Amino acid sequence: MNPAHIIIFGSMNMDLVARTPKLPVPGETLLGYSFATIPGGKGANQAVAVARLKVPTVMVGRVGSDGFGQTLLANLQAADVDTSGVLVNEAVPSGVAMIAVDDQSENHIIVIPGANGQINESDVDRLIHHLPGAAALLLQFEIPLPAVVAAAKAAHQAGVRVILDPAPARSDIPTDLYSCVNIITPNAVEAAQLVGFPVHDPTTAAHAADVLQQRGVETVVIKLGATGVFCATPKESFFVPAFSVKAVDTVAAGDAFNGGMAAALANGLPIRQAITWGAATGALSATKAGAQSSLPDRATVEAFLKQHDRD
Ligand code: RIB
Repeated sequence: MNPAHIIIFGSMNMDLVARTPKLPVPGETLLGYSFATIPGGKGANQAVAVARLKVPTVMVGRVGSDGFGQTLLANLQAADVDTSGVLVNEAVPSGVAMIAVDDQSENHIIVIPGANGQINESDVDRLIHHLPGAAALLLQFEIPLPAVVAAAKAAHQAGVRVILDPAPARSDIPTDLYSCVNIITPNAVEAAQLVGFPVHDPTTAAHAADVLQQRGVETVVIKLGATGVFCATPKESFFVPAFSVKAVDTVAAGDAFNGGMAAALANGLPIRQAITWGAATGALSATKAGAQSSLPDRATVEAFLKQHDRD
């Protein structure tokens, strides 16, 4: 039987990616190695990550009526994502992200929201009829906050699991959003921004999880980079170690994690195993260049888990 579908409400960007020996300091001009345009955007990346793991996927968002928008839509459709919920916005260009990646696989990203920035509560109408029977709604912070809040409330009322990736980091989250979120997945920087104190290891992550649970979130999953993932559910807390890989480019690794975890939950796996799937999907994504170009398919994730004797 097919797993239930996952809805993603979020951004779609064309990534303009420069590879460079090092990241420039203010005022510095550098000669880079290469330039590429690669489909990205946190929302669309999560959609492609889920779809490549063979879970039915619906994308809701906006692109401009330009060439980038056409390519972004075509790339989602090639990955088997249902794009009927994507509005082509005539008046505004598609979102772009200017990305520099250095030899250490560190990056700088500047996002120009374009059509993503026009998303509002009216766009939630296009996702509402997909809610019945959905396994989850995935949200991020690359579209305006009122739309995120409206979508979370609609899914919560419909009894659909809400998974929020609070990226890019922000600290002005309304309290009524927290109480609609089943799973929140910040990295260490985002967690610190949410709670107002540094988060860098399982002990500080446990304190942060406690604060977020008091605000109304059910389960807190904090991505601690190369060490692993801390998770606190209402019943237990545990740590899932990271997979060690040679990172080439970590752009979209966090999106890959969310897609992998959500797809595993849609397939009925418990949260601990779903986090392992997320960690494997994120690690594999870091071994390849680009955002959507780096996202692994299901066979690759299964083989990787088997090779590492984890499931
Ligand atoms: O999370 C990675 C993404 O962030 C990139 O694809 C870029 O578009 C920015 O949104």
